Amino acid sequence: MWGGRFSSSPSALMEAINASIDFDKRLASQDIQGSIAHSAMLAKQGIIAESDRDAIHQGLQRVLGEIESGSFTFSTALEDIHMNVESRLREIVGDPAARLHTARSRNDQVATDTRLWVREAHDRTDEQLTILIRALLDKAEAHAATVMPGFTHLQSAQPVTFGHHLMAYVEMFGRDRGRFRDSRRRLNECPLGAGALAGTSFPIDRHMTAKALGFDGPTRNSLDTVSDRDSLLEFMAAASICAVHLSRLAEEIIIWMSAPFGFVRLPDRWTTGSSMMPQKRNPDAAELVRGKSGRVVGSLVSLLTVMKGLPLAYAKDTQEDKEPLFDAADTIEIVLAAMTGMIQDLEPVPERMAAVAGAGFSTATDLADWLVRSLDIPFRDAHHVTGRIVSEAEKRGCTLEELPLDAMQAVEPKIHQGIYDVLGVENSVRSRTSFGGTSPVRVAEQVAWWRERV
Ligand code: ARG
Repeated sequence: MWGGRFSSSPSALMEAINASIDFDKRLASQDIQGSIAHSAMLAKQGIIAESDRDAIHQGLQRVLGEIESGSFTFSTALEDIHMNVESRLREIVGDPAARLHTARSRNDQVATDTRLWVREAHDRTDEQLTILIRALLDKAEAHAATVMPGFTHLQSAQPVTFGHHLMAYVEMFGRDRGRFRDSRRRLNECPLGAGALAGTSFPIDRHMTAKALGFDGPTRNSLDTVSDRDSLLEFMAAASICAVHLSRLAEEIIIWMSAPFGFVRLPDRWTTGSSMMPQKRNPDAAELVRGKSGRVVGSLVSLLTVMKGLPLAYAKDTQEDKEPLFDAADTIEIVLAAMTGMIQDLEPVPERMAAVAGAGFSTATDLADWLVRSLDIPFRDAHHVTGRIVSEAEKRGCTLEELPLDAMQAVEPKIHQGIYDVLGVENSVRSRTSFGGTSPVRVAEQVAWWRERV
């Protein structure tokens, strides 16, 4: 393709380090879309003949057909997808193919192809996130009043509802969706026409190609355009945060499924057994969601590191953008799908959650709040009084509900029978009606709010 300047061909090692066809063949359909738009524009501007354009279009359709059917032979000697497609086009249509690359460089070409690919990945991810959020909403709605222990430091803190807990993840995945959408909006400018780095002397119409490829308009600075990989970084950054959220949810499912917790069950299709221990049922799918988050974060760090020292404009280093991108996109796709399946099939065990929701004196805050409300004791003092009551219950080996009134009165004489109304876990969650709180009515409101938005 550039043989004019060279007297010998590259060494085998040069070919091996240089070639990207093994992975960038995934850009085939985007590459062909870009070439169709480019050649249509060249003809419209009178830069190539309409007959050449027609030959190019027919040839490209055939190349696409060959690639889709698997009959296309990819060549490492031709380096990348752009050269592979163009070379085959030349075999098919002859001379007109040689005019396709007028006013274009592989630098703006690859930038365009990758943006188109990332944009499609965004749309798939958005769809998947929507389905996951809906699955969480369904479960949360069904369990808006299912009491479970709430933790801080993984120590019993205050009772919450299972629905409220799941809705926390709806918030996270909702923000993820916002991040993806925000970066999709920003990426939607077309690199095609930036040339190698400086633009072109041909009278091209960048607005036309941008429109044909579904972009809002062309990018503004040709130097930035050919060296910029922000759209990939932003996709991977959003994917990394999303993968971390998925990993946290996976971790909780693993904890909840363990025998000492027993808060949820997952049907066989999401678990595996052990070759040695016949009783085992392992949460492998959840563990893999947790584990694969490392790949997504790793991909982001990989490309950030590639980019950090690059001078303007294009440098071949950026060819290293594709493998991390594809791996991050493939990984986020499979973990989102697996998590959605697990959430849909998750069977909570409300009896088990309720049985331990009161453990660890989890209604102690309710007791302190009662002292403030009913006896007008300042909160700091109420906190201290409650601490002494908890200590007494601990000494006797009973719960706060089981502690006799006289034992409480020994700490604070004004305490009366009314205290017992707030010590049960059901009452505790029902009382937490502040905006965003765990009370079933609030959870139902949160579900309704989200239903209108997904
Ligand atoms: N395969 C190359 C890449 O992904 C295409 C651009 C090649 N441009 C060049 N000047 N060698 O970056």
